[in-house]
Amino acid sequence: MGTEVVVEGLTKSFGKQNIWQDVTLTLPAGEVSVMLGPSGTGKTVFLKSIIGLLKPERGRVLINGVDMVSSPERDIYETRKLFGLMFQDGALFGSMSLFDNIAFPLREHTRKKEPEIRRIVMERMEMVGLVGAEEKLPGEISGGMRKRAGLARALVLDPQIILCDEPDSGLDPVRTAYLSQLLIDLNAQIDATMLIVTHNLDIAATVPDNMGMLFRRNLVTFGPREVLLTSDEPVVAQFLSGRREGPIGMSEEKDAAALAREQRTAASYAPPRALAPQLEPSPGMPRRAAAQRRRERVLGMLPRLPEAARTAILQSYAPTGTLDGAAS
Ligand SMILES: Nc1ncnc2c1ncn2[C@@H]1O[C@H](COP(=O)(O)OP(=O)(O)OP(=O)(O)O)[C@@H](O)[C@H]1O
Ligand SMILES: [Mg+2]
Repeated sequence: MGTEVVVEGLTKSFGKQNIWQDVTLTLPAGEVSVMLGPSGTGKTVFLKSIIGLLKPERGRVLINGVDMVSSPERDIYETRKLFGLMFQDGALFGSMSLFDNIAFPLREHTRKKEPEIRRIVMERMEMVGLVGAEEKLPGEISGGMRKRAGLARALVLDPQIILCDEPDSGLDPVRTAYLSQLLIDLNAQIDATMLIVTHNLDIAATVPDNMGMLFRRNLVTFGPREVLLTSDEPVVAQFLSGRREGPIGMSEEKDAAALAREQRTAASYAPPRALAPQLEPSPGMPRRAAAQRRRERVLGMLPRLPEAARTAILQSYAPTGTLDGAAS
């Protein structure tokens, strides 16, 4: 089962430049979470801080009692083995076949023998639909295949926590839809805790259990997907509707004057979006173990959630058929 990740009061700067401050959130065990945010708000820095590759100056990242910020390097190194990482650019070795790329973490971090390695690599390649492409070089395949190879490589060490940095970048809408389904199917199969950074609104709307957003050096919100998807917070509504009107500008933030001009002309930012249902695992896949845990967790926090989110959650958990009367 996946491992809970608890982030408390995390603050990261490079020199004088503060990236974000006081970020607090919990990635519930086995659930899928998405982090949104305009370019440059520090999403990649956040992922790197979670695995302890970057060191925030304040706060903690707790995984099984190890603090990825300040525990001894030896403990951090051991805990890092729980992770599977899928980088923004795939990060494959250009001179190695896909097979060798995907086998790399096994050869590097375990003492497994070649037949065992072959079995694991082929199993993962099958999971992401790459059987037959073992001997291809990364330069000989499409961007979508490279993404899936990156995902297969992230999976070989049986990760309990999977971090994906923009898994959809460079993919067409159809491939992105397949990828969304693949992420849900993977979650059903291995019950890993997953954090996905993406700009893609379809992934955001259909894949995660939880969503958060970074903006102006702060975590705007993090919680059940329904909270963000029904939010009328201007920055969230603008991002989810992909509009120019709102607090987010070309260089990330608009100045106050431009914003005030806009507010005089536009009465409201965005119409409420109809909530798309979350993807279910494909036929033949196991049920997501985290779905039941999530349901209890979210129903427990219902009284503390905004009205619109509460309504959306109750609707999504209503037994099917209750809305159109008795089934015939
Ligand atoms: N190692 C580093 N040293 C100094 N500054 C850095 C370093 N890594 C990132 N930054 C800065 O931190 C800020 C956030 O970068 P980050 O890559 O996390 O953004 P992002 O949200 O992932 O953006 P995008 O959506 O474009 O990928 C940027 O201003 C970047 O220049
Ligand atoms: Mg990034």
